[in-house]
Amino acid sequence: GAASKGEYRHYMLKEIYEQPTVIAAALEGRLGEEGVLVESFGPEAAALLQQARQIHIVACGTSYHAGLVARYWLERYAGIPVQVEVASEYRYRDVVVPEETLLVTLSQSGETADTLAALRFAQNKGYLSSLAICNVPGSSLVRESDLCLMTRAGPEIGVASTKAFTTQLVALMLLTLATARAKSRSVDPAILSALRKLPDLCRQVLGLDREIEALSQAFAEKQHALFLGRGAHFPIALEGALKLKEISYIHAEAYPAGELKHGPLALVDSEMPVISIAPNDDLLGKLKSNLQEVRARGGQLFVFADEGVGIDEQEDTRVLHLPHIHEALAPLLYTLPLQLLSYHVAVLKGTDVDQPRNLAKSVTVE
Ligand code: G6P
Repeated sequence: GAASKGEYRHYMLKEIYEQPTVIAAALEGRLGEEGVLVESFGPEAAALLQQARQIHIVACGTSYHAGLVARYWLERYAGIPVQVEVASEYRYRDVVVPEETLLVTLSQSGETADTLAALRFAQNKGYLSSLAICNVPGSSLVRESDLCLMTRAGPEIGVASTKAFTTQLVALMLLTLATARAKSRSVDPAILSALRKLPDLCRQVLGLDREIEALSQAFAEKQHALFLGRGAHFPIALEGALKLKEISYIHAEAYPAGELKHGPLALVDSEMPVISIAPNDDLLGKLKSNLQEVRARGGQLFVFADEGVGIDEQEDTRVLHLPHIHEALAPLLYTLPLQLLSYHVAVLKGTDVDQPRNLAKSVTVE
């Protein structure tokens, strides 16, 4: 059952391995021949999404990182302006809400105090409507929002969020495609077929577990780590760094790779492992020159790369290849190796993986 670890050593590992199944569940019944079934978001969703002229996304922690990915998607594929903010800042700001703005809250629990307070704060600000993307049916956030989409990840016990995050990303891709559809904007049909293949691709990536476990040894004695990504993979780098901090207590930072030269490059030496995400997208060339900047300073690189990108192993560069995926969905797939990496580092360090110190699964007080 959902509440037992079964054959797994930790809930977190079990939850990482559940991702192909729960991602399939999150898609179930929500895709038709022609695209996303917009009514999955509720009967009025088509009209609301057509009317919406911008979107504000509010969330905390890992859910916030999902929101950051969604900004890239919604702007690129649905052509709608998006702002994303952490709830604890948003709720105390003099937010200016343009007309026809949709508010989207993201929360696996639906009970996070700051996110809930942000929704309540937003209620008299003139939003077009509010949508909650949430993993817990009947939670406060769901009850108090106009629309909702459930992420169907099932109960998540590990404090460090894994499957709840990737199913949020699936939900947000569905929102992106639904918004594009409501606005009669055409989207590359290859995204839809890639979505259908996503559970299988995730399964393939989980097959890299042993290799990632071997890589993790290089981190056990390190005090710091730097995660680099570009575009929609910058938030994935943020999420990778958060996982490592949360469960292995290694100080980790994430930077958009192009920002390296404006500061963090000063930190790079042989004691600073640099983890980078290199899918096959139009920023690849730029990313490669960023990686060269790291090498030139004696940095140790760990690269998760598309099988076709031509980044090769060298003495200072470990490369793990992921199967090719449509670039729109790469943020989802590249999350998995980062989860496994922090998991194995934490196990090596002997921390309490499922219940890291000072943290709670759901923060229901401010
Ligand atoms: C806590 C958890 C995180 C989670 C955050 C937001 O800090 O430890 O894993 O991302 O709350 O939770 P929510 O339920 O709103 O997604």
